[in-house]
Amino acid sequence: MSDSVRVKLVDLSRQLQPVMRDLEEAARRVIHSGWFLFGKETERFEKDFASWLGIEHVVSCANGTDAITLALESLGIGEGDAVVTVPNTAFPTACAITRSGATPVFVDIDAESWLMDVKKAAEIVDGKTKAVVPVHLYGHVADIPSLRKALPQGIYIVEDCAQAHGATLNGKHVGSFSDIAAFSFYPTKNLCALGDAGAVATGTAHYADRARALRFYGQEKRDYHTSVGLNSRMDEMQAAFLSLELKYLDQWVARRREIARRYDRELDSRTYKRPSPLAGTSPSYHLYVVMVDKRDEFRRFLDREGIETGIHYPVPIFCQPAYSHLGYSRGDFPHAEALADRIVSLPIAPHLTDGEAERVIAACDRFARSGGS
Ligand SMILES: Cc1ncc(COP(=O)(O)O)c(C=O)c1O
Repeated sequence: MSDSVRVKLVDLSRQLQPVMRDLEEAARRVIHSGWFLFGKETERFEKDFASWLGIEHVVSCANGTDAITLALESLGIGEGDAVVTVPNTAFPTACAITRSGATPVFVDIDAESWLMDVKKAAEIVDGKTKAVVPVHLYGHVADIPSLRKALPQGIYIVEDCAQAHGATLNGKHVGSFSDIAAFSFYPTKNLCALGDAGAVATGTAHYADRARALRFYGQEKRDYHTSVGLNSRMDEMQAAFLSLELKYLDQWVARRREIARRYDRELDSRTYKRPSPLAGTSPSYHLYVVMVDKRDEFRRFLDREGIETGIHYPVPIFCQPAYSHLGYSRGDFPHAEALADRIVSLPIAPHLTDGEAERVIAACDRFARSGGS
């Protein structure tokens, strides 16, 4: 099947088509400015993104992994501390915890929401636990208010919002429910850089100041370093692109929701199980993920129909060789493991046409009727 008729999982040149001219103009502006780091563009993006989120402070950085590390380090978390997160997230969530010097501790997900089981998280915290990192995976919203109530005082919450730009709870954007939140602008994300970029967001000026120093070799004022930080800067080019795209983000997320609603309505719910969004939330559908019993057959079937799929993620983090020293074994996190073996991501993107969504639905329907369930 020719490339043009395939329904792709990711097609960034098509997705960015409506803003291509403006992106070119922004690139030209930055090149001609002769100023490439920590300039007007970065300042503007941090302000614009903070105001869009409804949070006081945004500190940009080089990528989403650094954003999580910076968030934790801004809270004073490091060597000897434990940080709780979920095993079904992208590897960088755990990687960033380890980079901060802390040890990741995993807690299973809830079978309905596919997100952190808040009760279990509260049960496993101990004297070493300094923070919990719930992940708004796929753009679904983790139950931060219940987590806050369930956790003992003094344990920080750091939201991993890498997949959730635009997701809301009771009308408020994710990123505004915790002590400090981390965003990624990796090119496939809902708000995408044309390269790597990330940011932390917080309502606490002190954490923002710490993050600002830590992203720049721990420099508090010129040539005066109070800690050993990272080199983690967002460049002016990415900041210019992101400010521009931010104007379209609500519209892009609205289109993702429209497609998701169609999938919700029209996919056979016995064959294709989906997570139940928390009451009062509006997910941003970075990914549309279904659970299917015969996953390999299903993916092969869709591929033959010209529809690309993905798996986010096939190996729970505690099973990764990099974390074998933590001593977890198969069976420790039954819900996350059941998902890892059966989940499939279907195409969803702002540029996907109704016709393409219909092709996905029709192919899923044919598979279900052929005995897929
Ligand atoms: C849930 C999650 N957390 C963190 C990250 C890390 O972001 P980045 O790739 O920008 O470092 C990603 C993206 O890859 C992600 O999906």
